[in-house]
Amino acid sequence: MTDTSDTSETSTDMPEMMSAWRRETYGPAAGTTRQEIPLPIPGRGEVVVRVHATGLNAGDVRLLLGDPLLVRPIFGLTRPKHPVRGMEVAGTVSAVGPDVVGVELGQAVVGELVGGGGLAAYVRVPASRLVTIPPDVAHTAAACLPVAGGTAWQALDAAGIGLGAGVRAGGTQRVLIIGASGGVGTFAVQLAALRGAEVWATCRDRNAPLVEHLGAVRTLDHRTSPLSGLPARHFDAVVDIAGGMPLRDLQRLTASGGTVVLVTGDGGPVLGPIPRMVKAVFASIGSPRIRSLAATPRPEVLTKLLELVAEGRVSPVIEREYPFAEASAALAHLEAGHTVGKVVVRGA
Ligand SMILES: NC(=O)c1ccc[n+]([C@@H]2O[C@H](COP(=O)([O-])OP(=O)(O)OC[C@H]3O[C@@H](n4cnc5c(N)ncnc54)[C@H](OP(=O)(O)O)[C@@H]3O)[C@@H](O)[C@H]2O)c1
Repeated sequence: MTDTSDTSETSTDMPEMMSAWRRETYGPAAGTTRQEIPLPIPGRGEVVVRVHATGLNAGDVRLLLGDPLLVRPIFGLTRPKHPVRGMEVAGTVSAVGPDVVGVELGQAVVGELVGGGGLAAYVRVPASRLVTIPPDVAHTAAACLPVAGGTAWQALDAAGIGLGAGVRAGGTQRVLIIGASGGVGTFAVQLAALRGAEVWATCRDRNAPLVEHLGAVRTLDHRTSPLSGLPARHFDAVVDIAGGMPLRDLQRLTASGGTVVLVTGDGGPVLGPIPRMVKAVFASIGSPRIRSLAATPRPEVLTKLLELVAEGRVSPVIEREYPFAEASAALAHLEAGHTVGKVVVRGA
């Protein structure tokens, strides 16, 4: 453990300039360009990480587009405050700022950057956000975990699914994951199955073999099998990652005492998911409760996810790894939709 108190430490091989993929205005991925910019300098409590892998998320596309408009007062009213996307970062600590405790030069770390920054050769991160990557976990696997794995974990916690065996008095819990094939969904299926739940899931038929391999006992294609055909009050938890279904239909599927968890960020162009979240508060009165999830960076959850990956009990599904030179294409792939598991960009 290192306590650098008032001093900073820097690797000897640090360049002065670095590559970063930036978009100075809101708009589609095609407008993202590779630029040479000065290396960041760590402030108090911060480190600089040499990026080996960055996981991309639906949230990166939203921030590229500035969609919904509601995010702009926070992330930049007329243009993005942080023009570099990439919220899940795995790499090596290259510089340590003052007052950093427990993070050392050369350490392999992973963490979440809410404002982005991962699509660059180096990135500045608060040390408190970082977790050590175990030796037998690849940087590409680690970079899938902070947002996608962390959101899936927090969604199941919000649903009240206990840790350990996941079995409570009265029998095994039945969980429905709506939107099981994407980044969050592929983790949600694995984690729910690991907690002992009987997992049903929706995904395109072509992704059913994967989702069943991850632990779902039954899959339905959302385009051909409407959820209205499922038995009423069948599930202890319904986790909605895809959106689009009326709240009352989600509640109809949920057993008395069960929970609907809204994960999806979908909604209108101005307020996004907010109107649906407000409706959910009123719809919960006297009916199965609906919880709207706003996942936050949780290093303690990330640590547990890394342990599960190291033990081979959870496996990140990586649809495609892109070299750094093709980061713009990686964002465009995500923007086009239909991602299966995660898209990861390797470091510069
Ligand atoms: N609440 C929070 O804190 C939080 C945190 C992270 C993410 N999110 C939200 O969670 C959602 C998923 O994020 P992600 O990064 O996992 O996205 P992603 O990797 O792009 O995955 C989206 C997946 O959803 C599937 N899908 C779309 N519509 C569907 C439907 N009607 N039924 C079933 N599957 C459907 C897609 O498959 P096909 O289109 O190929 O069928 C795709 O595999 C996004 O809306 C994101 O904003 C929320």
